[in-house]
Amino acid sequence: MRKTTVITIANQKGGTGKTTTAYNLAYALTNEGEKVLLIDFDPQGNLTMCFGIEQPDKLPYSMFNIMNAMMTDEPLPSPEEYIHTQGNIDLIPSNIELSVAEINLRDEMGGEKTLASLLEPMKSSYDYIIIDTNPSLGLLTINALAASDSVLIPVNPQLWSATGLTQLLKIIVKVKKRINPHIRIEGILMTMCDTRTNLYKEAFRLVKVYYRETFRIFDIQIPLSVKVGEANFYSQSIIEFLPQSKVAIAYQNLAKELMVNGS
Ligand SMILES: Nc1ncnc2c1ncn2[C@@H]1O[C@H](COP(=O)(O)OP(=O)(O)OP(=O)(O)O)[C@@H](O)[C@H]1O
Ligand SMILES: [Mg+2]
Repeated sequence: MRKTTVITIANQKGGTGKTTTAYNLAYALTNEGEKVLLIDFDPQGNLTMCFGIEQPDKLPYSMFNIMNAMMTDEPLPSPEEYIHTQGNIDLIPSNIELSVAEINLRDEMGGEKTLASLLEPMKSSYDYIIIDTNPSLGLLTINALAASDSVLIPVNPQLWSATGLTQLLKIIVKVKKRINPHIRIEGILMTMCDTRTNLYKEAFRLVKVYYRETFRIFDIQIPLSVKVGEANFYSQSIIEFLPQSKVAIAYQNLAKELMVNGS
């Protein structure tokens, strides 16, 4: 039977490169021959927009409808209605309505496992499922963690905050104790790195001081490049847009490293 790895990309700080990492990692994994499902689990719908869906709010079916159907035990829409495909990547999109699903989750018995139950039967069709989360530690992020084998934490040196990361790690420990005992931390990925700046050097030094003993800090780092925004603008992965760029090569190497490590 196929072994599927579910990876959540999380950091409750905004703008750390979660969506960019989810999208480009998915693209890189498909380049290596893997079949990938992306889950946009952020009401901002940024990953959905990366997919070229310009107005996520106008989608007839999105993660909101699916989560609600799961919660009310109603039949799900058929996959052709909510799964979008770009090359070898499938996506379940999201829009602002997902924030309503988050409110409904509060009253739901066992609600934190809703996404896990949704994904379980889908696993047989994919090698990797990658979940992009919103910048918060609310019920959506907890649902994502409850459904995951591992969590990858992008850290932007420009926005480094030790307290922020501590809160995220506390939530992961809680989820591991109470809901999903086999979740593990894939590692910390430094994104938007301009290695010449003192800010980068200091943030990277501190990440190592705090976390080197406990987690993997990926040797691969994602360089800062204006080309990332350009690729997003054209709804393309940076790997497709500029395959020889340093960012493209870094994401491709990240995919290879995850595969070698059995993730
Ligand atoms: N390596 C990079 N170099 C330059 N810009 C980047 C890079 N990675 C991401 N960006 C840009 O930084 C911004 C934030 O990135 P992204 O949307 O991936 O972060 P996020 O963590 O998903 O944000 P949010 O918390 O709002 O969901 C985007 O405009 C994106 O294009
Ligand atoms: Mg995002």
